Amino acid sequence: MGDVAVVHNGIVENYETLKAELADHEFTSDTDTEVIPHLIEEELTADPDADLLAAVRRVEDRLEGSYAICAVREDDDRIIVARRGSPLVLGRSEDASFVASDVTAFLEHTRDVTYLEDGDVAALSEDGVEIFASGERVERDIETVTWDADAAEKGGYEHYMRKEIHEQPEALRQTITGRLDVDAGDVDLDVSFPPGFLADVEEIRVVACGTSYYAGRYAAQLFEELAGVRATVEIASEYEFGAGRTPDRTLVVAVTQSGETADTLGAVRRANEAGARTFAVTNTLGSTVTREVDGTAFIRAGPEIGVAATKTFASQVATLAMLAVSIGRDRGALAAADARAVLEDLQGLPGAVQQVLDKESRVREAAQTYQDSEAFFFVGRALGVPVALEGALKLKEISYDHAEGFAAGELKHGPLALVTPETPVLAVLTEGSRANETMNNVTEAQTRGAPALGCVSADAEYDTLDVDFPVPDVGIVEPLVANVYLQLFAYHVANEKGRPIDKPRNLAKSVTVE
Ligand code: F6R
Repeated sequence: MGDVAVVHNGIVENYETLKAELADHEFTSDTDTEVIPHLIEEELTADPDADLLAAVRRVEDRLEGSYAICAVREDDDRIIVARRGSPLVLGRSEDASFVASDVTAFLEHTRDVTYLEDGDVAALSEDGVEIFASGERVERDIETVTWDADAAEKGGYEHYMRKEIHEQPEALRQTITGRLDVDAGDVDLDVSFPPGFLADVEEIRVVACGTSYYAGRYAAQLFEELAGVRATVEIASEYEFGAGRTPDRTLVVAVTQSGETADTLGAVRRANEAGARTFAVTNTLGSTVTREVDGTAFIRAGPEIGVAATKTFASQVATLAMLAVSIGRDRGALAAADARAVLEDLQGLPGAVQQVLDKESRVREAAQTYQDSEAFFFVGRALGVPVALEGALKLKEISYDHAEGFAAGELKHGPLALVTPETPVLAVLTEGSRANETMNNVTEAQTRGAPALGCVSADAEYDTLDVDFPVPDVGIVEPLVANVYLQLFAYHVANEKGRPIDKPRNLAKSVTVE
């Protein structure tokens, strides 16, 4: 056993080649990570004058792939850290230094942080932090995170996820505060672009993964409806620029709460290479995506610890709605009066979400009634589709139950064969989701015995539903409010089953590998 130990986040792509070069070293695992301490050891043996810092720097040149590394060595009281492609942030206080891939890990100790840049190597010791780039000592800014430490703790809730669901009114308030000029029907997202940057955009392509992808699907409809721009949304890992498009007139919008998702960063890089304009919607100041795009809008949702995204989804959709209004106004596609109506709905969003949260006991009862079902289907149309998909994702990821989301009209084209009295159907029946047509599809499922639960606009009534959840009147953001019922439903089903809600098996909060 040597005297070097490392922590590594990322992938060493050439580890097999490196391992072959280290034939006289004894390996104790099959991981790519283990080549790193062996390489460091080799450097230290080859040059007895080299210290851990010098050795890590040399090893960096041999690694291909993405990594954030922390290395320690016996008899050296420093931690040497390095990053390329994976996030790494330093926390700095008078009597200690911290290192993590995300600020929330040390927020209770310090709010002063330094985001390392790609290629940086740093030495943390009792005396503070020294940062090097290309072998030269450099200074990097110290930024103060304004999230308060309390916000990162559970605050009396049993799970972060439930706390974060309940934080949505406040998170949404933060998202919209100071950004809406309702009287003028305009939005100031506090992003600076060259003149005309948004005005002559011909196409918007949203790229994202998972829940953020569903936020993107919601947004694409708003871009078309409010901004009058052709908009598509693509799963980031599938995104290619494609022939027949005009990169200089295309805006690629990356939606990523962490700003570190490798698939999304890959898509942004492909868009940049093609010459498109790029924009990020993220929760994370200083994250990698913000450094690679032409402009960023922050969603200001505050820290989200639960692996299942909840408040960040709400704040992403609200931010994207503001972006849609902003582009619509810039392009002259949205009249002031129509913009005003949307902005009033956005203003009403925090209060509407609070009204839903106040009905949590009703959702808990429904979760208790239906928790043992064989499968759960979620349906909606238009803006209800991304919400149905997100509702299903949330339930499957934390309860481990089989759940699927469909465009309601698709039920009869196949999934109806799965419907039985053991498969409840949860429907989005609000403004913006073509409720009456969706209800017809729900009735088809009910005829086959399925119980039906619906999130219903305040002014509508569907007497045949087994359970109805009222949604306050907030126009095109009603499906987003309906989503809060679906989050609570997923939470309570998972809680009844005693699942590890904040850390579901096999999942990570930030997916930094492709
Ligand atoms: C699901 C969830 C994931 C993320 C996805 C993208 O609850 O959180 O599906 O949405 O991994 O993450 P970001 O937004 O950080 O790019």
